[in-house]
Amino acid sequence: MDTFFETMGMFASAMGNDCTFCHVKEAYFDKTAFAQVTPKMLRARQMLTMMKDLNEKYFAGRTRVTCFTCHGGSNAPRSEPDLALQYGEAVEDPNARDFPWIRGSRASRSSTSTCRPSAAPTASRS
Ligand code: HEC
Ligand code: HEC
Repeated sequence: MDTFFETMGMFASAMGNDCTFCHVKEAYFDKTAFAQVTPKMLRARQMLTMMKDLNEKYFAGRTRVTCFTCHGGSNAPRSEPDLALQYGEAVEDPNARDFPWIRGSRASRSSTSTCRPSAAPTASRS
């Protein structure tokens, strides 16, 4: 991941939600409120560590497993296969979205999230 805000955007889209899924609602109006730590942020930090471990141990350090790999737009990844999907008719998903930045370590576009603060810092957190 190239920049911090791309990471935040990916967090948000992987969870199928917006920034305030993890951050306090006040962050909409007051950028400094993003720093307020919430239980979801603590959970997200654990997830980040887990994701790094997986990639380091099993995928030669490549960013192969991402938040989206498991979450796929949901905050509760499924544990069981979907029988309807398995035995039903194949359907093309017209809403399937492509997330170029999960293909490799280089981000190729930035988030389109609406609650991104205008003065986004670009400090690299790779
Ligand atoms: C899945 C949870 C999650 C989502 C969704 C999320 N964030 Fe975060 N955010 C975090 C975590 C965790 C941190 C703390 C990072 C760290 O450990 O330093 C953070 C930190 C931040 C900070 C730095 C706060 C500070 O000053 O310390 C900003 C700004 C921020 N996020 C903006 C955003 C924006 C904008 C979005 C929506 C595009 C977003 N976040 C979506 C989890 C999330
Ligand atoms: C290997 C699979 C996997 C990966 C990778 C993963 N997660 Fe998770 N995550 C889960 C599972 C499973 C849960 C538990 C959901 C539940 O309890 O239903 C969860 C729960 C969460 C929760 C709590 C959701 C809630 O409703 O309280 C947050 C936040 C979260 N993940 C963020 C992230 C972020 C951010 C990343 C990427 C850094 C990530 N996860 C990567 C599997 C994963």
